[in-house]
Amino acid sequence: MSRFHEPQHADFHRLNASIGFDRRLWPQDVAQSRAHARMLAACGIVAEADRDALLAGLDAVEHELREGAFAFAPDDEDIHMAIERRLTEIAGPVAGRLHTARSRNDQVVTDLMMYARERCAHAREAIAALMAALLARAEEHADWPMPGYTHLQRAQPVYLGHHLLAYFWMLARDRARFAFAEAQAGSLPLGAGALAGVNFDTDRRMVADELGFATVAANSIDAVSGRDFILDYLNAAATCSTHLSRLGAELVLWSSAEFHFCELPDSWSAGSSIMPQKKNPDAAELLRAKAPRVVGHLAAFHGVMHALPLTYNKDLQEDKEHMFDAVDTLELTLAGATGMVTGVRFNRERMAEAASDEMLAATDVADLLVRLDVPFREAHGVVAGLVRTALDSDRTLSQLTEQELAAHSETLAAHGAQFHEVLEQSSWLESKVSEGGTSSARLGEQLAAARTVLDESAGA
Ligand code: ARG
Repeated sequence: MSRFHEPQHADFHRLNASIGFDRRLWPQDVAQSRAHARMLAACGIVAEADRDALLAGLDAVEHELREGAFAFAPDDEDIHMAIERRLTEIAGPVAGRLHTARSRNDQVVTDLMMYARERCAHAREAIAALMAALLARAEEHADWPMPGYTHLQRAQPVYLGHHLLAYFWMLARDRARFAFAEAQAGSLPLGAGALAGVNFDTDRRMVADELGFATVAANSIDAVSGRDFILDYLNAAATCSTHLSRLGAELVLWSSAEFHFCELPDSWSAGSSIMPQKKNPDAAELLRAKAPRVVGHLAAFHGVMHALPLTYNKDLQEDKEHMFDAVDTLELTLAGATGMVTGVRFNRERMAEAASDEMLAATDVADLLVRLDVPFREAHGVVAGLVRTALDSDRTLSQLTEQELAAHSETLAAHGAQFHEVLEQSSWLESKVSEGGTSSARLGEQLAAARTVLDESAGA
């Protein structure tokens, strides 16, 4: 029987159905149903023979789903109803007992939490793989000078290993965000029923243990309404994708003929359909371009949740496509980033040449004046004047005459030898001795710290 006199409009059915995308939740839905059936029997709510029939039926349904032999019916609105329909066909009327003490409202969010925990764990592993690749490349290139940039203008030289490790630390924080998101999906919603709890004294802890939940949700209303664990995943994914976009952008720039700092591996590059000579950094470009899409899912799903009255509303069905697309996008771009970082070949000469631009030592000259007791702001002005004199006459700083030095600063002219020492290339990098700086000693400490972070998490 149905309370309705008219059938659903075909377009309403299409609008309402989630089967097109939520079918990926079948492994969680089957696992959940098994745990629920066992619990119902353990609590004396269904007979043991019925439980066994339900479990056997679920095995058969799972087999079909796994083999791709499951025939979805036009009326299957979502994965939960599709599985129950098929279970009924296979096991008969006993299938109708499975939904005792359960609503689709607590069922769907339970599936999603299981899925979210799994994808968080995957993200943490994929991020660790990228961190390992970055660290290996940083170790190999610990003493390769390159220009560091601000405003994309050459600013101060750094070692390539130092630059690569910047990404390592961003990703370490991303990984922590995924660990947080994983923990937020750790309280079992099942047992909340439609919203108020169920009319049976169910053993929720038993289900939580079987499904790997740390605890059970304390409030049935919160359990069926809450989707902040999805926002937490999307937030972690959005920030991580944004970090990957910066890496992608740098690989695009660095692999151009203008920079020629690196060459991307063939396996992560594309050709052109018209220009045979071209090797395009498509994967790096897509790292750049995919990030806003993930950020968009975060913003869009915040919009769905905004001001949404409690408890379950169909609006919540929108969680899935935002989540799934973010998962697919993030996992693919993480793989791409790891592939490119692992295979990229850097050009030592080009980077060193770009880093040998004497203007990069301007701050070092200012700091020499500071050591000679000139206030930093004044020193900054003196060096700016020197830079202008040099640029106006197309010379380098070390080509300025003693008279020219004296015209800008008597102090500097009096310490000409030290001035020329500061302009010797290697000193610019090795003088960055502060903790976290690029000098070899500090970079050595940083490489060791990064190694520890990675090894500790591998053991954990
Ligand atoms: N497909 C639905 C969703 O994704 C399942 C829950 C439906 N619950 C309901 N009361 N209509 O949210």
